[in-house]
Amino acid sequence: MKIPVDRDAEEPVYLQIRDRISHLINSGGLRPGDRLPSIREMARNVNVNKLTVIEAYSVLEADGLIYARQGAGYFINTEPLTRPRGASTFAPDQQVIIPPNEIPSFLTVSNAVLRAEAQPGTIRLSSGFPQPTGIEDVQRIARRAVKNVADALFRHNHPQGEPALRSQIAQLLMQLGLAVKPDDLLVTNGSLQALALITQHFIQPGDWVVVESPTFHGYLSILQQAGARVIGIPMTAEGMNLDLLEQYLQSHHPKLIYTISTLHNPTGITTSLAHRRRLLDLAERYNCRVVEDNAYERLNFEPTPPPIKAMDESDRVIYIGTFSKTLMPALRVGYAMITGEHNQALIERKMLHDMHVSVMSQAIISEYLASGHYRRRLNQLLSLNQQNRCVMLRALETHFPAEASWTVPIGGVFLWVQLPPHISVQRVAEEAAAQKVLVGTGTAFFPDQQGYPALRLGYAESPEHIERGIEIVGRILKAQ
Ligand SMILES: Cc1ncc(COP(=O)(O)O)c(C=O)c1O
Repeated sequence: MKIPVDRDAEEPVYLQIRDRISHLINSGGLRPGDRLPSIREMARNVNVNKLTVIEAYSVLEADGLIYARQGAGYFINTEPLTRPRGASTFAPDQQVIIPPNEIPSFLTVSNAVLRAEAQPGTIRLSSGFPQPTGIEDVQRIARRAVKNVADALFRHNHPQGEPALRSQIAQLLMQLGLAVKPDDLLVTNGSLQALALITQHFIQPGDWVVVESPTFHGYLSILQQAGARVIGIPMTAEGMNLDLLEQYLQSHHPKLIYTISTLHNPTGITTSLAHRRRLLDLAERYNCRVVEDNAYERLNFEPTPPPIKAMDESDRVIYIGTFSKTLMPALRVGYAMITGEHNQALIERKMLHDMHVSVMSQAIISEYLASGHYRRRLNQLLSLNQQNRCVMLRALETHFPAEASWTVPIGGVFLWVQLPPHISVQRVAEEAAAQKVLVGTGTAFFPDQQGYPALRLGYAESPEHIERGIEIVGRILKAQ
């Protein structure tokens, strides 16, 4: 492949390579599925450093024009990244839920999922973990990370999190519009620990807490352990129903509102700036704290509004993030941005819990951020996820019954399928599991574990698996 570059031009060389390849794609010179020269080949052809080619390929990936396949190289995207055909639909007719009963243990549910997912040949439409990254990269980065923190491994370290990592996280959050200082941040063992510490700190048994309905089921278990009483406010296509929220703020005086404002788990919905503003106004008016858990932030294909925390002027909102969805869940690195008077008390609570997050895990994340691998990894994920979302949407249109409808998220890894009322979702999930396809049943995400018939489907799997999995589930649905 001939890529002429002009070293005297103002435009950097990596952008010249990007422009040339995108021109070839747009003019049909490169066709969907074609393989690009490897980084080494391209560097040799163009007579540039390999890093220059990596930069050029990263930008093309971020533009959605190419994607990387593990161990096989870079390919031209099979589908130009146009908007999906079907409209996003989320129109459940549901009530506010105040659950009377105990919900199933998170541990039992989580163990069952781990066992099912471990079966070889299983298609996992139930989870949204990032696809494994190149193990050589991880090894190289981990080796450098060990070197960076060799001394620190033989003593206790900062309970709040390593200062270098907190500065890096602060930089990332500033890009989202948050006015954050490294000292506002508490590094935690995954965002789950941040959620647990914050809930234990603010909630006494018997306190009311508002959640979206449906919501992340792990948080429902945390609330149950804390003895909280839960108010599930129905989601609409725009986010939590704010009229109902206001009604319950007035009548029940909840202590806390838990919200996932960007790429909501499980529906994939992202709220608008106006919705965020009004939610914060209501929290102000009724003196209620807000926990904003944006675990899927940065996995958006389209711009999203700044977090609610960016508009918070009275330290009312705690913002939570994680590297589990963008890098590796097993490193267990999450964080909370806590401004104001509760910051120190929460650091102390964290310290008494487990002193600090593993310095090795923190150092690995730090090295990913410092070396630029994090950005590259994000670009890769975005490109893969966007491609996979298209594959899933197309497969749903082809294989699912006409009565089904679904959300079209602007990022992340999940979408939410609403089914006709007569469908038994549990039976669908069991029949699919018997054919080695795992799906998330909607029920698990409602505060009372009831809810209307729906599935949460993850598109972090390979396109082939998504296509096959949806075909199998579609067949089961049509038979019902
Ligand atoms: C919305 C949300 N918050 C928090 C978590 C917990 O993630 P972690 O503890 O791995 O950071 C998850 C995981 O699924 C999630 O979906």
